[in-house]
Amino acid sequence: MPEVSMDAVVALCKRRGFVFQSSEIYGGLASTWDYGPLGAELKRNVKNAWWKSVVQQRDDMEGLDAAILMHPAVWKASGHLDGFTDALVDCKGCKKRFRADHLPGQGAQRSCPECKAVIDLEKTPPRPFNLMLKTHLGAVEDESAATYMRPETAQGIFVNFLNVINSRHRKLPFGIAQIGKSFRNEITPGNFTFRTREFEQMEIEYFVRPEAADEAYHRWIAERRQWYLDLGMRPEKVRLRPHAADELAHYAQACTDIEYAFPFGWSELEGIANRRDFDLRQHAEHSGKDLTYFDQADGGQRFIPYVIEPSGGVDRAVLAFLADAYREEEVKGETRVVLGLHKELSPCKVAVLPLLKKRPELVEMAKKITSSFKKHFVVKYDDTAAIGKLYRRQDEIGTMYCVTVDVQSLDDGQVTVRYRDTMLQDRVAADRLFDYFQTKGLIGN
Ligand code: GAP
Repeated sequence: MPEVSMDAVVALCKRRGFVFQSSEIYGGLASTWDYGPLGAELKRNVKNAWWKSVVQQRDDMEGLDAAILMHPAVWKASGHLDGFTDALVDCKGCKKRFRADHLPGQGAQRSCPECKAVIDLEKTPPRPFNLMLKTHLGAVEDESAATYMRPETAQGIFVNFLNVINSRHRKLPFGIAQIGKSFRNEITPGNFTFRTREFEQMEIEYFVRPEAADEAYHRWIAERRQWYLDLGMRPEKVRLRPHAADELAHYAQACTDIEYAFPFGWSELEGIANRRDFDLRQHAEHSGKDLTYFDQADGGQRFIPYVIEPSGGVDRAVLAFLADAYREEEVKGETRVVLGLHKELSPCKVAVLPLLKKRPELVEMAKKITSSFKKHFVVKYDDTAAIGKLYRRQDEIGTMYCVTVDVQSLDDGQVTVRYRDTMLQDRVAADRLFDYFQTKGLIGN
């Protein structure tokens, strides 16, 4: 299959209402994106698939939905206030700022990526720049009211560790999962929705006995990789990349990234880290609360659990699923664009199309079929173009099946069902469509 270009994916997103530039009518806000009607649906499907797989279908997990704003002491304890920084340098030529590790070249003399002026790292050494977005609560904008937009959802889980144990009577091992927005003042956002300042994370903190951490770490790496493949991602486009010791975050003992071969290169989709007991220990120390785990059955031992953290980005998953599903095919001398999304992710499962919109009986039958499936899956009636054009549009947004009502349908009660991937058609009795879609896995999952 030919490689897909980022331009083609971005153009489709705009053309078909998956992703728009934020505040576009005002010229847009750099690297900020809005999910349009179909993007919102796709994103919701990705999140639902994740929630189902890691919370609802497991016995060892709980869900959580913590606030974005947290007590500022959280960020002191977690290390984000002091350590969540990028090293930045100023270019004296164009006055712009760059991440020191993104400057081309070696040694102290570097060249500005923008204006090519020499940047001397000895004369203007890199300075730490905190990536957290600061804000103020209440009417007074002084330091006492300062707080931060969370840079990861994880801390909301750690500070609720005791609440979940006590309210849900949990024993180790167990995990807490949550989905939510995070914010980072990224210096070099880019590659469409891949790196942005406002993004959504799907994070799990899985609490285990220290001696069980390594086994759980490897199990989660395998399970999380499989989740992407089960939702249709091509295995040759997904790889695991263990971190070298010098790239580990301050809290991590080990970390492996799940990477996807995006059109701009292999890049991180999700990281699975062994965070040891770092966070709970820090919060115990800073809050003065006892966050040790006590298990009477285990000889009354008290200890701080280790944590395995699979942490993925919703926006990156959506982008990878889009890029992976996008294909262009030659059909009768024309190019057909198809989004071959997995049925669980597809923003519209079925479109119902009357062959002639001027025939009220066809319209009525098509609308009746549409209504009858509304409570089972996303189904849309469409008569805004000729049938050929409607098929192409539905292919581009990944609609699994098109049901066409034609003149003969009025006589024999049958309709044509066309499958997106093969374009093969079945003639099906309208009153058997429920069974048909059930066998195709659209109903009863
Ligand atoms: N709690 C651990 C943590 O936040 P991370 O590797 O910094 O780890 C986890 O982030 C995931 O969140 C990444 O794998 C990525 O999918 C997503 N992510 C991080 N920064 C992002 C950004 N600026 N834009 C979009 N997604 C981002």
